Amino acid sequence: MEALKGVRILDMTHVQAGPTCSQLLAWMGADVIKFEPPQGDATRGQLRDVPGADSLYFTMLNCNKRSITVNMKTAEGKEVFVDLLRKCDIMMENFGPGVLERLGFTWEKIHEINPRIVVGSIKGFGSSGPYADFKAYENVAQAMGGAMSTTGIPDGAPFVTGAQIGDSGTGLHLAIGLLAALHQATRTGQGQYVEVAMMDGVMNLCRVKFRDHQRLTRGELAEYSVPTYQGMGDVPRAGNDSGGGQLGNAIHCKPHGPNDWIYVVVQEAVWEALAKRIGPEVHHPDLATDPDLAKIADRRRHQAKMWGLLGQFASKYTKREFMAILNEIDVPCGPIMSTSDLADDEHVRGRDMWVELDHPQRGKWFNVGMPIKLSASPARIERSPLLGEHTEDVLKNVLGYDEARITAMKTAGAFSAPPKKAA
Ligand SMILES: CC(C)(COP(=O)(O)OP(=O)(O)OC[C@H]1O[C@@H](n2cnc3c(N)ncnc32)[C@H](O)[C@@H]1OP(=O)(O)O)[C@@H](O)C(=O)NCCC(=O)NCCS
Repeated sequence: MEALKGVRILDMTHVQAGPTCSQLLAWMGADVIKFEPPQGDATRGQLRDVPGADSLYFTMLNCNKRSITVNMKTAEGKEVFVDLLRKCDIMMENFGPGVLERLGFTWEKIHEINPRIVVGSIKGFGSSGPYADFKAYENVAQAMGGAMSTTGIPDGAPFVTGAQIGDSGTGLHLAIGLLAALHQATRTGQGQYVEVAMMDGVMNLCRVKFRDHQRLTRGELAEYSVPTYQGMGDVPRAGNDSGGGQLGNAIHCKPHGPNDWIYVVVQEAVWEALAKRIGPEVHHPDLATDPDLAKIADRRRHQAKMWGLLGQFASKYTKREFMAILNEIDVPCGPIMSTSDLADDEHVRGRDMWVELDHPQRGKWFNVGMPIKLSASPARIERSPLLGEHTEDVLKNVLGYDEARITAMKTAGAFSAPPKKAA
């Protein structure tokens, strides 16, 4: 049985942060009803690759959901919303600040309508504090949560990371909060308000950088390859440094293309074996006994020398060949995988992490699979819904509306966009 079978979610989320959360919950078996404005989630039409078809931006974040379109700016639309609130266990949204309140639905009002319902809300900066009124997107959260100031090289611009830690990262945080609140509501009969701010989520993911921030008050950060000193204040950008107790870095391999790199962690336990393996090929047969690199503290001090020797060795091998050499002597490492490396990777396919789907508008396409594997409840991945594909289904089968009521509501504009005003 699916783990969340029987849990119904009223999903008002849009763009990425919210939908990434509701898609995971749908993959765990929740009945997710995506409640869209009549024009649909804006991402349906963003970055389109197939004319007239829902974009991959949308399809990759909205699998296993039903779609209902409702115009919340009509009295009848609000009626549908209220009826759905009564039938759902969770309601979730990631509108801009104040949107739901302007529609007339504060947390208190929703709680009054259905005391059991758990409400999940993502905002850029939460509902309190000087930033509460601001909208946010992924990179705004990366900028304000500490990720950008600590990513890149000291003399260059700060960088965003490709992993969507502001959006998808926040969605993950929300999923944890929703499941905890749902568990509690099951025992107490009382729902609660679960709020996750994107800035807070990014700070949580940058926790180790705030560890280093405090260590700087007591001394240098010896493991950093860039200069640090007591009282430095800000944690510097440190390129590809490992940022942990073990030294690590990215090493360029043959034929030296943009993704011909491998990340190598020189774990204390493997140094001797590594030095013995690479030393003879870099004209350094006694590398394992070189006092400059004997212990981790020595290697921290002489990092440039160590990475240089590894680079020299790697210049004769591809990243896969180097990986095989390192795997043999148990050195933790990972070739930098490009998107095509991953799409073609046997391991990835074998773990259902690159899943082929069909879609009535776009034909075959791929989604990244479900990263959380439940032994008794494996995810079954189904395509995203077309806009409003399940409106009638939900009105009839979830809310029990009859044909006459649906027709009257349709006529009143409950499911359509208001006509454009004449110029
Ligand atoms: C992402 C974001 C910047 C987009 O801003 P936006 O496009 O202006 O959208 P908003 O959420 O602010 O507003 C949505 C509007 O659609 C309206 N709307 C939404 N659903 C509706 C429905 N079913 N029927 C009628 N109107 C609807 C809202 O009432 C609102 O209108 P208003 O401005 O008149 O109040 C903003 O939603 C945001 O900051 N969200 C929180 C952080 C977040 O999740 N960021 C995105 C990460 S991917």
